Amino acid sequence: MKRVQSVCLALLFTPLLFWVAPVMAEDTVCIQCHSGQEGLLGKPVELWRGSVHAANGISCHDCHGGDPTDFAMAMSPERGFIGAPDYVAVPEFCGRCHLGVKEDYQGSAHGRALAAGGPQCVLCHGNHEVQLASIELINEESCSRCHEYERAAVVKQTINGTEVTLHRLERSVAALHRVGIDMRRIKEDLFAKRNSFRRLFHTVELEKIKNQTAEFNQSLLKIKQQIDDHESELGQRKIVGGVIVLLLLLGGCIALLIRKSYHEEE
Ligand code: HEC
Ligand code: HEC
Ligand code: HEC
Ligand code: HEC
Ligand code: HEC
Repeated sequence: MKRVQSVCLALLFTPLLFWVAPVMAEDTVCIQCHSGQEGLLGKPVELWRGSVHAANGISCHDCHGGDPTDFAMAMSPERGFIGAPDYVAVPEFCGRCHLGVKEDYQGSAHGRALAAGGPQCVLCHGNHEVQLASIELINEESCSRCHEYERAAVVKQTINGTEVTLHRLERSVAALHRVGIDMRRIKEDLFAKRNSFRRLFHTVELEKIKNQTAEFNQSLLKIKQQIDDHESELGQRKIVGGVIVLLLLLGGCIALLIRKSYHEEE
């Protein structure tokens, strides 16, 4: 009986183990030791947990290097530990993974001003608390630290119109997809456009942003045309469907009337 009981218990707890296991796997020695530290040494853990990086499996050692499995050797340079970058080294540090952004940034007025105190990645995105990017990152508090907000506001305004159009098109595509229309090609097209559009910001070059935004709006117009076609086709289908239902109803009524008058004649 005892044995049956323990087998039952084990069976009961097995799913719990599977549920706990991935959480433990995430706890590298870096996280285990640093979450017990005070102040600047412990704070990164809390901040990181709520970040877009944690959500995508990018952990301490992916950014800082080192050995996440060995308590004693974790932070030794022989195991690839590179430590925390200083201010001017940050673009190279983040740019190992965000190559396109790094390129655009380094060619920009901001990148060229780096050594003289120009803004870098962490100043705008934060370090451990990095979130999904959006144009809300362009705001008075952040962008008026070094120059007047005016030039930032113009950039935001220029990007914003296209951003709104993109969101609207994405919603239409989702709605058409829900009623069973094949939107795969248009969806891929839109996704690619969105990605290259979002690359534009880091150049902070107003002329370039204006010109390219105009080009984007042109190609978005073409995509919108295709979506409109689908929508009006759907509308027509609905009208045709409605007419058929109406005709069927009418047919039913006539049949009923004929039958009725036939019976009355009897
Ligand atoms: C056994 C505890 C322990 C482990 C394990 C550990 N750290 Fe640390 N870490 C510390 C302490 C203590 C400091 C501050 C003193 C120092 O710099 O050595 C520190 C400092 C740091 C710094 C700041 C260094 C600088 O240049 O200012 C970074 C970044 C860091 N750790 C990342 C990591 C990463 C990534 C891992 C895992 C690969 C890791 N740590 C593993 C205890 C630990
Ligand atoms: C997305 C990359 C990234 C990840 C992931 C990351 N860090 Fe950092 N970390 C940085 C950068 C950049 C700095 C340099 C500080 C700055 O410029 O603001 C830094 C600095 C630090 C410092 C020095 C103290 C400080 O706050 O300046 C410590 C300690 C540290 N990180 C520990 C960790 C630990 C522990 C983890 C995992 C929980 C982690 N980091 C995850 C990018 C990262
Ligand atoms: C002056 C502020 C600023 C600086 C400096 C900056 N960013 Fe950004 N970043 C933004 C803004 C604003 C957006 C959102 C743009 C949009 O949505 O059109 C963004 C978007 C992003 C994105 C998402 C868009 C994409 O193309 O994937 C990534 C990734 C990113 N930044 C990484 C970085 C890295 C890495 C650096 C340093 C090399 C950096 N940023 C420097 C403000 C900044
Ligand atoms: C080891 C690789 C790696 C490093 C180093 C790294 N990132 Fe990331 N980052 C990623 C991945 C993976 C994602 C999630 C997928 C994506 O959106 O590209 C991401 C996402 C982001 C996003 C959100 C992108 C979006 O679509 O809105 C921003 C912003 C960002 N990172 C900024 C930074 C900054 C700032 C640093 C330096 C402090 C940095 N990253 C360092 C790998 C990295
Ligand atoms: C840490 C300081 C700093 C911050 C913060 C900062 N900038 Fe800049 N910005 C500069 C410097 C330096 C220049 C180049 C010199 C100049 O034109 O004044 C510049 C230039 C610009 C330019 C003109 C670029 C050109 O090619 O003419 C624009 C646009 C701009 N910034 C937008 C922004 C936006 C948007 C933000 C906020 C997301 C921002 N800046 C935040 C320092 C900063």
